[in-house]
Amino acid sequence: MTSALRLLCCIALAVPLAAVAERFSVESPDGRIRVEASEKNGLAYYEVYFGDTQVIDASRLGLEFHKLPNLSQGLRLQEVSRASVDKEWEQPWGERRFMREHYNQLVLALVRDEPKLRLEVEFRVFDDGIGFRYRMPAQRGVDKAQVVADWSEFRLADRHSTDALYIAAELWNRYEHLYEWSKASEVHTAATPISFRRKDGIHLSIHEAALVDWAGFTLAQRGNDGALRVMLTPWSYGIAVETQAPFKSSWRTLQIADSAVGLLNSDLILNLNEPNKLGDVSWVRPGKYTGIWWDMHRHDYTWGSGDKHGATTERVKARMDWAAEHGFAGVLVEGWNQGWDGDWFQNGAIFSFTESYPDFDLAEVAAHGAKLGVKLIGHHETSGDVENYKRQMADAFDLYERYGVEQVKTGYVAWAQELVRYDASGEKRFEWHDGQYGVGEYLRSVREAAKRKIAINTHEPVKDTGLRRTYPNWLTREGARGQEFNSPPSNPGNPPEHNAQLVYTRMLSGPMDFTPGIFDLEYRDLPDKPGKVASTLMHQLALYVALYSPVQMVPDYPEHYALYPDAFQFILDVPTDWQQSIALAGEMGDYVVWARKERGGDDWYLGAISGKEAREIEIPLDFLDKGADYTAQIYRDGQEAHWRDAPFDYVIEERQVTAQDQLEARLAPAGGLAVRLAKRP
Ligand code: NOJ
Ligand code: CA
Repeated sequence: MTSALRLLCCIALAVPLAAVAERFSVESPDGRIRVEASEKNGLAYYEVYFGDTQVIDASRLGLEFHKLPNLSQGLRLQEVSRASVDKEWEQPWGERRFMREHYNQLVLALVRDEPKLRLEVEFRVFDDGIGFRYRMPAQRGVDKAQVVADWSEFRLADRHSTDALYIAAELWNRYEHLYEWSKASEVHTAATPISFRRKDGIHLSIHEAALVDWAGFTLAQRGNDGALRVMLTPWSYGIAVETQAPFKSSWRTLQIADSAVGLLNSDLILNLNEPNKLGDVSWVRPGKYTGIWWDMHRHDYTWGSGDKHGATTERVKARMDWAAEHGFAGVLVEGWNQGWDGDWFQNGAIFSFTESYPDFDLAEVAAHGAKLGVKLIGHHETSGDVENYKRQMADAFDLYERYGVEQVKTGYVAWAQELVRYDASGEKRFEWHDGQYGVGEYLRSVREAAKRKIAINTHEPVKDTGLRRTYPNWLTREGARGQEFNSPPSNPGNPPEHNAQLVYTRMLSGPMDFTPGIFDLEYRDLPDKPGKVASTLMHQLALYVALYSPVQMVPDYPEHYALYPDAFQFILDVPTDWQQSIALAGEMGDYVVWARKERGGDDWYLGAISGKEAREIEIPLDFLDKGADYTAQIYRDGQEAHWRDAPFDYVIEERQVTAQDQLEARLAPAGGLAVRLAKRP
């Protein structure tokens, strides 16, 4: 080498060495996902790779505080620790019994030198995605901490060509809105989960895990390059999180898969939650329930008192008789308690959670249920006045406990940012459902219920972040537009593609009390209410498998089920608790095929639903036990079926199958396929 060349090589080496800051890297156990963190000009960044593909460009990290120095700038990075975890845990109930929690962890400190202060960021990298959260160790000079901003970003690589499916953030009806499609770079705001489909087939979803004593986040563009930033939902006075060191934030999560169903088969959110804190939870029982509910949504009956009062002793007892005849575990009763008269939506302060209307006798109804082996399912509607609820909560749960109630549905009907709070001076304030206040109030009811061995089904909830692992009595929740939007007065309700969109968005966060199973799809008894549910009958059956919830309602009237007894048989048979669940095929917003194996039995069930287009599907049955014989009881759309003009065109047939076979079916627009695969002895 000449001396000139040697000099060139040294310069070439010296320049990058001086300019490149230290990079910290951590990989998933299978080596496919890699997170890299680095610092540039005092700002901290992370990047994410899936194989050779960069899926997240350099994205900022850090928190900003009121009064404390800003921990999103003036930073240097320091490695704190590394760990690898591989353990199995068991769900007391769920879509899958045994879970594998397998990840590599890297903790970095974001350090400020003047004055000395540190925040840690903890990365966990699994084979199905990543999570990161902030934690602040106890340190001198920090006691109270008020977070005003989370500077975490998700700068999706290729965002101008990537499709996003989501609902916008902080809309007036909370999460009960229709989904939108746009390019990722054109998302202005989004609630999570938000899911993405890249051109190369990689799918991503951003969400949050283990949201406890922290503010929930939404995403927003802050800048003109189409990247998304975390926006913490603030208190009414502007601070986002009131805390004290040491503290931990919730996890910011990114699921990564090479197909749409890869997102559905991911356990990332649950794996980032803390283990069960309640001990023996054998009293939390999955199952099917019916109730006095659709009656009011159809406007045939009222929650409030009067001639059309729905929750009378006689009507509830009759519904309990019907539940017992069909083996349904519970009967939900809404509108039995005082406070529904007038505009209950606006009158949360007057709800009594213990006093019933004169035509409802709680003791008599509970005794009737006990005789039949049917549980009364309680209801607490707050209309957002959580202060009124809090004052009565202990008495309210005590009362239900006395009558053997094991499940309570709660409700927080109120427009966005209208949860009631009284501040220290007694002034009435209004808070977001997903701010730190709301997050705490939902958990308060779940913990209070757990003390009495009562499980909770929350409507108008904060989003699910997997807390059922820690509090297994938090059975299910709403948190999207469910079946209630298909009631005759709401017509036109959910569009035909809605449920196939829910699968790839809302359902990634956890179980949903969607309440499938409406059979009166054309409102036949209501000639003055033209309209229909955008669904075939088979779609309604398939929803019991396609939209997971450990408790599933059978909401329609007995006389409507009596019109299609052959189809109703599937609802009688389908379980709600699973040993295993596998999403076999699907595309975001278009269709999905789920296979689930019942817990405590040998049968498998299939549930496939489509969006607005018809589709032919082929389902290889290779998940069945090899060498075993099964009877496939097939409930499928007929050749002419269409949600608009032929929702009741269906075929029910049987076939003998083994793991070598495959099933073929046509899904109608908003159609469905439901199959019971009964193992033969
Ligand atoms: C809205 C809930 O989602 C619905 O299920 C319930 O019937 C009403 N609120 C009344 O509480
Ligand atoms: Ca609702």
